[in-house]
Amino acid sequence: MISLVVVAVFLLQGALFQPPQAAAFKIFPANGSLTHQQITEAAFLRKIAEVCRDVATARGKDFALPINNKLTATTIQRACSDSYSSLLKLSTFNLAVVQTSLSNAAVDRNQFSTAHHFDNEDFKNGRDLITQGIAAVKVSIKKGKYLSARSSLGAVCHTLQDFYSHSNWVELGSTAPFNTLIKPELPLNNLASPNTKTCKSCDGENCTDNILQEVLQQKILTSGYFNLFLPTKPAGKCSHGSALDRTSYREPTGGINKDDISSNHGFLHKRAAEMAINATMELLEDIRLATGNVAFLRLMGLTQTSVLAFVFDTTSSLSNYIAEVKRVSISIIDSRRGTSEEPTEYILVPFNGQDFGPLIKTGDADIFKEKINSLSASDSLNPGMCLSGLLLTLTRAPPSSDVFVFTDGAAKDTELKRAVEAMMQSTQSKVTFLLTNSISTRSQQNVSLSRSLSQSDIQLYRDLAHVSGGQTIEVTNSTQATAVITDLITADLVTVLQVERSPLKAENFSFVLDPTLSNVTVYITGDSTAFTIYSPIGVSQSGSVADGPLGSILTVGNLKRVKLNSDNQTGEWKISIDSTSSFSLKVIGQSSVDVLFYFVEIVEGGHGDSWGQSFTRPFIGRNATFYVSVTGRDSVTVTDVLLVEASGSDVVSGTIKSVSATDFLVNIDRIPEGAFVVQLKGLLNDSSSASRFQRQSHTQHKGSRITVTAQSQNITQAGVPLSLNFTVASNATGSNYTIRARTDQDFGVSFPSSLTLGTGGSAQGSVTLIAPSDTESGTDVTLTIEAEAPGSTDLNYVTLRLTVSTANAIFSGSYSLSICLTFFCFFICHFVCF
Ligand SMILES: *[C@@H]1O[C@H](CO)[C@@H](O)[C@H](O)[C@H]1NC(C)=O
Ligand SMILES: *[C@@H]1O[C@H](CO)[C@@H](O)[C@H](O)[C@H]1NC(C)=O
Ligand SMILES: *[C@@H]1O[C@H](CO)[C@@H](O)[C@H](O)[C@H]1NC(C)=O
Ligand SMILES: *[C@@H]1O[C@H](CO)[C@@H](O)[C@H](O)[C@H]1NC(C)=O
Ligand SMILES: *[C@@H]1O[C@H](CO)[C@@H](O)[C@H](O)[C@H]1NC(C)=O
Ligand SMILES: *[C@@H]1O[C@H](CO)[C@@H](O)[C@H](O)[C@H]1NC(C)=O
Ligand SMILES: *[C@@H]1O[C@H](CO)[C@@H](O)[C@H](O)[C@H]1NC(C)=O
Ligand SMILES: *[C@@H]1O[C@H](CO)[C@@H](O)[C@H](O)[C@H]1NC(C)=O
Ligand SMILES: *[C@@H]1O[C@H](CO)[C@@H](O)[C@H](O)[C@H]1NC(C)=O
Ligand SMILES: *[C@@H]1O[C@H](CO)[C@@H](O)[C@H](O)[C@H]1NC(C)=O
Ligand SMILES: *[C@@H]1O[C@H](CO)[C@@H](O)[C@H](O)[C@H]1NC(C)=O
Ligand SMILES: *[C@@H]1O[C@H](CO)[C@@H](O)[C@H](O)[C@H]1NC(C)=O
Repeated sequence: MISLVVVAVFLLQGALFQPPQAAAFKIFPANGSLTHQQITEAAFLRKIAEVCRDVATARGKDFALPINNKLTATTIQRACSDSYSSLLKLSTFNLAVVQTSLSNAAVDRNQFSTAHHFDNEDFKNGRDLITQGIAAVKVSIKKGKYLSARSSLGAVCHTLQDFYSHSNWVELGSTAPFNTLIKPELPLNNLASPNTKTCKSCDGENCTDNILQEVLQQKILTSGYFNLFLPTKPAGKCSHGSALDRTSYREPTGGINKDDISSNHGFLHKRAAEMAINATMELLEDIRLATGNVAFLRLMGLTQTSVLAFVFDTTSSLSNYIAEVKRVSISIIDSRRGTSEEPTEYILVPFNGQDFGPLIKTGDADIFKEKINSLSASDSLNPGMCLSGLLLTLTRAPPSSDVFVFTDGAAKDTELKRAVEAMMQSTQSKVTFLLTNSISTRSQQNVSLSRSLSQSDIQLYRDLAHVSGGQTIEVTNSTQATAVITDLITADLVTVLQVERSPLKAENFSFVLDPTLSNVTVYITGDSTAFTIYSPIGVSQSGSVADGPLGSILTVGNLKRVKLNSDNQTGEWKISIDSTSSFSLKVIGQSSVDVLFYFVEIVEGGHGDSWGQSFTRPFIGRNATFYVSVTGRDSVTVTDVLLVEASGSDVVSGTIKSVSATDFLVNIDRIPEGAFVVQLKGLLNDSSSASRFQRQSHTQHKGSRITVTAQSQNITQAGVPLSLNFTVASNATGSNYTIRARTDQDFGVSFPSSLTLGTGGSAQGSVTLIAPSDTESGTDVTLTIEAEAPGSTDLNYVTLRLTVSTANAIFSGSYSLSICLTFFCFFICHFVCF
């Protein structure tokens, strides 16, 4: 009986259900109240300033920034660069704040967990969440997984910050944060017992002295009770308070929360928020002591980790193929050594006609070069397991990696195309294909594709490269190829414009270059493509002129690279292209101003919305919301956010709502049919002037008409199989969907190979995951479950992040059951009671 209820609730949760906003520090800034994001950002900035000041002092330098003055990402950037003599790149600071804030906001989805919000005097469980979260942050940093570390950090920050809003710590007159919350070895003393009465009713509107005098005098710690549905709480206990909180209508009435300045204890909001900033700084200091300055600053986004991954075909029809590939890849590695752009990690995945892997990972360039040198190629005319090798690389490499695929043959496993696209989209890694088929024949006039590389084989690689924002380069001269590749792995690369076309007519494109851009390069790929570039003041240069007034043009196979001269760049440029075959156009440059995009799930509530990052494709034709953050500036004006179909003509424009000076939530009426990119236009505000700028996502995104939802789960125990239910739904009743599941670790995972959708167009399956018993506690694992429609016409996935625990399960079955029952009650009430 109960399990039936549980299953029903999961389905409802995915389809219809939108729980109201949990009570917490707010998400949107309003009338002077501080939000979780502002609290987190302030703590980050102040802590970074402290660390850089200490570094400056230790090096006998002056530190120009007085702590606690108006700190911004750019003032910090300047001051810290001086401390470190510009050792640090600081452009990813916003990224770190955004990543942390997104998972911070996501905690609001755990509406009914008292521990996550320190409601209902649930101090012990709340403290456990914090200390376990801190351990997970430290393990992730040790493993170099900064994204996971930020995600755990965001969740910890939310719970920690809520303590100061929801407990009576501030009312007790405390002058420092409650550091017992981040120290598991300290006892939690002086907690109110279940029978201790803590509040009296508020006196009408005035709610300033409802906490009992004896509680204040004896410094007894309590927090407000909260319940959306039932006015139940133990006798004499304080409530959280707010229109949504049913317990606050019962004696003692009113509440004690300090979520914003209009809350019951809103007169203490500022003090609670300041205390929360100080507490977050103590938490950051604890992490810094455990990890050291360099790793800590990297967690804060102050250096860029970059990963270079190579996927190698180890069969070839060409005798000197492997030697050339080794030469190109080693020259790429050497060109970055000792520079600030040296990769922090290298990955190598070989494949041949039968097999792929294993994945080799190292941070040591010399070891990596040895691994590459020890590869040998066997002669074969058969196609290779190229997409399998690439899929393994994308799954196991960190998000936003640079991946280079070397092959001279067709892919055998083309059925994985949609899966590779989905993985590119979810990781935002960039893939470049180097088709080395013609290396050995370069001395001949006839460049023939000797290993049965047909146009459709090459098109597959081109399609995939475009989806990821990478390139397909048909290498004819390895020296020139190296030059192009080293451009592509430069730091701070941003995309100004990228389009692909299968033209019937000539077409004109325009793009705006702003003053922050340098080394602007235009790439045009296509077999027979003529073009002319026009500068903002009307100077033009034809594509056939290698050195002209606007720039220098290098031709590598079917790729033309135009390096624009650095003068007179700012303004609107035009390029007209005339081609008889398909082509792609890409304009990139170096700039600290970049744009981050995430699709988000909005949780609508009684007095505000909250959101969390969405880990599935949005539904075609329906509305959606995404989060946009502009880095590298303290404030920007965004005028347009557009979803532009990558190869069609559909353009959907979004409505923009500001979350902070650089962050925005954008609502889109409908997700386009085809693959699309996100394009953003606006103004960079400087003290004196404002200049137009534009950026675009390098990855193409895609919607789907399939929904894949999984049971919510975030902990797995090492050595113990974990079964997870998931549901696939679409309008195609009776269709047989291919199922795949994989993790970013080498963990065992089993799943049904296909599911047939029953009446109602949905089917349920189960994935079983086993983390090896020697897995370190706190290790993060990402599990992706995907469903592909018959004939590869559509694909969707859901990604879950789980943490491996070796201790006893933190969340007992009865706990999640109570969540389900509460959800169920809410569902009923939502339609019956309200
Ligand atoms: C609220 O109560 C406090 C303490 O009793 C009192 O000092 C204050 O004047 C009251 N404020 C209002 C607006 O009634
Ligand atoms: C603050 O804003 C909220 C709505 O956002 C409003 O209900 C409340 O009255 C405002 N409080 C003050 C003190 O202006
Ligand atoms: C936060 O810390 C600063 C610096 O130590 C201190 O001046 C300030 O009073 C603290 N704020 C609160 C609310 O405790
Ligand atoms: C190129 O190949 C074609 C047919 O494969 C042949 O007719 C032509 O003579 C070759 N050209 C050169 C320059 O070798
Ligand atoms: C390859 O390109 C380099 C640099 O442009 C040039 O010096 C070299 O002669 C080229 N090699 C061949 C075989 O064309
Ligand atoms: C980029 O531009 C700067 C100056 O604008 C120049 O010093 C630097 O060498 C360029 N980098 C590359 C890779 O061309
Ligand atoms: C750059 O601007 C100057 C002055 O406006 C002009 O004389 C020159 O021709 C321009 N150069 C190019 C390449 O547009
Ligand atoms: C999105 O669509 C749903 C119905 O499909 C509607 O209830 C909701 O209000 C829409 N949201 C926005 C932001 O337009
Ligand atoms: C883990 O999932 C449970 C429910 O499945 C949820 O209550 C809990 O808050 C989650 N924990 C974290 C850290 O998100
Ligand atoms: C998963 O599905 C199976 C069979 O459909 C069901 O017996 C089980 O209770 C489900 N588990 C959860 C956690 O929903
Ligand atoms: C499912 O929906 C799509 C788009 O709305 C439509 O083209 C297709 O025919 C539908 N399929 C079925 C089986 O209803
Ligand atoms: C679904 O497809 C798989 C292979 O694609 C096949 O093995 C399986 O029998 C099919 N199932 C049904 C119910 O048609």
